[in-house]
Amino acid sequence: MSRYESLLQELDERCGWRRVKAALLDRKIPEISGRVSWLYTFGSATLFLFLVQVFTGILLAMNYAPTPDHAYASIQFIDQTPMGGLLRAVHKWAASLMVIMVTLHLLRVFFMGAYKYPREMTWATGVFLFVIVLGFGFTGYLLPWDQKAYWATQVGTEMAEQVPLIGPATASVLKGGEVLGARTLTRFYSFHVLLLPALLLIFVVVHLFLVVWHGISAPPERKP
Ligand code: HEM
Repeated sequence: MSRYESLLQELDERCGWRRVKAALLDRKIPEISGRVSWLYTFGSATLFLFLVQVFTGILLAMNYAPTPDHAYASIQFIDQTPMGGLLRAVHKWAASLMVIMVTLHLLRVFFMGAYKYPREMTWATGVFLFVIVLGFGFTGYLLPWDQKAYWATQVGTEMAEQVPLIGPATASVLKGGEVLGARTLTRFYSFHVLLLPALLLIFVVVHLFLVVWHGISAPPERKP
């Protein structure tokens, strides 16, 4: 046994990582050779993009100031730091890709009927995840605090206000008052970096637990 293998063995005896790995990764996929395809990777791609967002988001937050006086200038400062522009670009592109991937994942699950018994709860948690992913886009858009961000959010919150019954209350919670201003920016920032990541994490854990528990569904078969 090599040194590396014996180290892994020692670790396994102390924390049982092999059993955890086996439960999470060494799973059987449906025996329909060739039919479990790349279409099944959209969920994992979404998860990977989320990790990219966490990594780049933490680095961006180190230099971003969520106040009307400093937000715009802090974004310009980020662009001047080494790799700051690249960091912002990756965060933006990965955000768009995440929306595309989660939509493709949803469509794959829908058209293959993978939402049916016994996976209804997996689908339901997925619906929450979808809304959360869109929420990330909506709240992140305001953060540069430039004209485009300000007026897009103005339109977005006014649209929310038009919803019957709950509209005015929703808009007021989002804006933190009657008008779009300092409190809106603080609120959107806290949604973007605290509330939504916490919710996404909780729902992803439940979602993936259910995926592992049920095993992946077989693609639908054409009746002869
Ligand atoms: C952040 C968002 C999401 C992540 C990270 C995620 C992750 C995953 C992963 C890794 C799988 C395993 C297989 C696969 O990739 O197809 C999966 C399966 C599944 N997901 Fe998602 N998902 C997300 C959103 C959604 C949404 C929006 C829906 C639907 C509304 C959904 C419904 C399902 C269902 C029903 C399965 C089981 C599929 C099967 O057994 O064939 N997920 N998800």
